Amino acid sequence: MSTERTFSIIKPNAVKKNAIGDIINIFESKKLKIAGAKLCMMSKEKCELFYAEHKERPFFGELVSFMTSGPVMMMCLVGDNAVLKNREIMGATDPKKADAGTIRAKHGDSMGENAVHGSDSVASAERELAIFFDKHELVNM
Ligand code: RTP
Ligand code: MG
Repeated sequence: MSTERTFSIIKPNAVKKNAIGDIINIFESKKLKIAGAKLCMMSKEKCELFYAEHKERPFFGELVSFMTSGPVMMMCLVGDNAVLKNREIMGATDPKKADAGTIRAKHGDSMGENAVHGSDSVASAERELAIFFDKHELVNM
């Protein structure tokens, strides 16, 4: 087992429906620790940089407009195999296909408004954390 950190976002639809506490509870119950967190609005500039790999996709405009439509909770999660563990806890991208008990099955509303983001690799996690957090905002767990 290796200790990793990953970048997590509680998306605007989940913040709006008061699901922050429930989602954090799920992470903590699965032994992921919070090493940084902030509730804020995502700027359009940072959002476009963050989702640069999807720039040519037809849903890009909708994705950026949704992610900047309301407050998001950004977090750094730390734990054993945190990247993959978080992806498993989140469930499939499409909430309709997400396994029962996953965050997206519980709080996702649609493919776009699917409640949470989680990095897909250690390299992505470091890239994403660097976009949204200054070094001093992340603690060692
Ligand atoms: P994420 O990056 O948000 O953790 O989700 P993911 O890896 O499961 O999905 P990804 O393929 O990276 O897509 C990023 C986000 O774009 C939205 N999306 N919309 N309308 C669509 O067909 C569509 N496809 C993807 C989702 O919000 C997805 O989380
Ligand atoms: Mg992704």
